[in-house]
Amino acid sequence: MNLALDRARLHSEIEMLATFSDAEAPAVTRIVFTPTDLKARAWLHERCKAAGLSVRQDAIGNTFARWSGSDPGAPVVGTGSHIDAIPNAGKYDGVVGVLGALEAIRALQQSGFRPQHPIELLLFTSEEPTRFGIGCLGSRLLSGTLSAEAAGKLTDSDGASVEQVRLAAGFSGELAAVKLTSGYYKAFVELHIEQGPILEGAHIALGVVTHIAAPASFRIFIEGSGGHAGGVLMPDRRDALCAAAELILAIENAARNSGAIDTVATIGLCEVFPGAVNSIPSRVRLSVDIRDTDLKRRDALIHMMEVACRRISEKRQVSIQTQLLNADSPADCAPEIVEALTQSCVKYGLSFLPVVSRAYHDSLFMARIAPVAMLFIPCRNGYSHRPDEFASPEDIARGTLVLAETLAALSA
Ligand code: GLV
Ligand code: MN
Ligand code: MN
Repeated sequence: MNLALDRARLHSEIEMLATFSDAEAPAVTRIVFTPTDLKARAWLHERCKAAGLSVRQDAIGNTFARWSGSDPGAPVVGTGSHIDAIPNAGKYDGVVGVLGALEAIRALQQSGFRPQHPIELLLFTSEEPTRFGIGCLGSRLLSGTLSAEAAGKLTDSDGASVEQVRLAAGFSGELAAVKLTSGYYKAFVELHIEQGPILEGAHIALGVVTHIAAPASFRIFIEGSGGHAGGVLMPDRRDALCAAAELILAIENAARNSGAIDTVATIGLCEVFPGAVNSIPSRVRLSVDIRDTDLKRRDALIHMMEVACRRISEKRQVSIQTQLLNADSPADCAPEIVEALTQSCVKYGLSFLPVVSRAYHDSLFMARIAPVAMLFIPCRNGYSHRPDEFASPEDIARGTLVLAETLAALSA
């Protein structure tokens, strides 16, 4: 099999997809079910159809583009990722796993390879938690990790529910029908940028993911007492933002002192009410994102956060409520797919390293219903979720080549 990628086409498609954005270039913002997201999806459908793939969408907008195998009833070999992008993001997160997979399929088609198992490119809906507060909405539903009822009721910051928004975006049918039957997949492989600095720092071509870390996220509501910035004296204050500041530092401190470099905690959102220079903050809403490769350590940090909430609430006489959004378990990648990826790297003489994914991915949830593995491409300085995120065309081509080879091995 002689695999010839069209690098220029892949590069120009990545550039093209980045133009579907609600932020000024080089930043990309593409929030799920916005008109921009829908236009990007329509463009992608056309690219898939042009490659001869048959496209179907489920009720949440997960999109499957299928290359039929010689045994159409055989379990599917899946690949893919997401194209939604957080505010002020870059152009590679998720996109490389979608457009790279499309190029891998086209290269296989052109080489004359014919799969026995169907190969499907899967575009997941809302890997990013931006709109509905919870990441991996599509893959949670596909894997049955989130019930249709709970998913339908999630709301965005305007109070619109998933149910309303997806219907308005043109995705009909029952959310309950999104869940895939067990045995649907033979294997699922996701190509992604590393979103960390290890591969680049070690001058290694590719990362073969063996484990995906366990994420948890919360909303925290703090309520104190507002008032005039001049009139209320310091001993009488119950300032919600000062309580939030203390809590943020307590969480940071607990993460720094967990004893393991793999523990991370981020407070990425802080909304202050009423938000006036001369008014004491009476209410604050925080988001907290906690991750670890070790479930026990992750949960110990959550416990420390809860203890800090009680301590600060008492000390500062404010109310602090935590709302759990998700606390997911880590996933192990399937040894047989890790081996197939490894063999493909060896075949092309490419250096590789077994790595842990500290970011979460749809593969974390697909691992509940399918054997999965992931392949990482280096990205400059490990930057991701920022406009200067960058992966070189050469690195993307290497990842795409290994993906193609692996899809061939798994689907033969
Ligand atoms: C995915 O985007 C993550 O936050 O890990
Ligand atoms: Mn992301
Ligand atoms: Mn991603």
